[in-house]
Amino acid sequence: MEKEEAEKYILAGRITKIAVQKAKKAIKPGQKLLEIALSIEKSIVIAAVEGRGKPAFPVNLSINENAAHFTPSSTSTEVLKESDVLKVDLGCHVDGFICDTAFTLNFDNSHAKMIEAAEHALEEGLKVSADKVEIGKISETIEKAIKAKGFNPIKNLTGHGLAQYEQHALPSIPNMDTGNPKQLEEGNAYAIEPFVTNGEGYVREGQQSEIFAVDKPRNVRNAYARKLLEFVLAEYETLPFALRWIEKGLKLPEFQRRVAVRELLKAGCIRSFPILHEQPGKFVAQAEKSFILFEGKTTVLC
Ligand code: CO
Repeated sequence: MEKEEAEKYILAGRITKIAVQKAKKAIKPGQKLLEIALSIEKSIVIAAVEGRGKPAFPVNLSINENAAHFTPSSTSTEVLKESDVLKVDLGCHVDGFICDTAFTLNFDNSHAKMIEAAEHALEEGLKVSADKVEIGKISETIEKAIKAKGFNPIKNLTGHGLAQYEQHALPSIPNMDTGNPKQLEEGNAYAIEPFVTNGEGYVREGQQSEIFAVDKPRNVRNAYARKLLEFVLAEYETLPFALRWIEKGLKLPEFQRRVAVRELLKAGCIRSFPILHEQPGKFVAQAEKSFILFEGKTTVLC
């Protein structure tokens, strides 16, 4: 990692932190999820004005048993309830260098212990994260911290590396010990994200997808599909985007847009991120921070 690259990561972290602080103050029960998502995404853009930063992916607002990958559609009317366990997962990128972060809110405090377990596991995981530390060591630390509080880590959701325009780069950093001897390396960026549940500790894919990303751009015959692919590559490169973002940015009638998305999925040009959920009636809390290993230090971005 060059100094210039490290500075971009740090700037992305600074912008993300401003958006997190604003969101923590602004989010209240009774608000529409769509309103919350739009205001957080806007606050990233505002905070980023001088730094050329942009949202790294659509703000995820997964609730209760939904662990990840929910973002409201442009027609969503869903309202946040006091008893909801809301995961706010957001990020900013500067020229593709990403800070990925998340926190959980629950306004009636009925799940305060679960949220505390996620935050504690994250802090413990960060404490042991340094150059040449085995991934297994971090995973073991996170798993122990979660289980000590009486909850389960989610097996199939993991922390991850961060690379330019790549939100989920290798390696995976599991939230339970897999004994992985691979080590963290100086000059790289990572995100640690414990997911904590009172469910079985395993998420499944739901039906709904509002989030997509370019996977393997190739030629498609359908003209709408070509237009949409050109647009998302120019705007988001290979980072995730929301359907509501293209509705707003690309002048393509709804029917043509649907055809385009279907064709691009079929051709493998884009991939979808379906909602990931625990068992119905169970709850999930999440905490996440990103860091870089640079000049012999672990620098937490946000
Ligand atoms: Co992440």
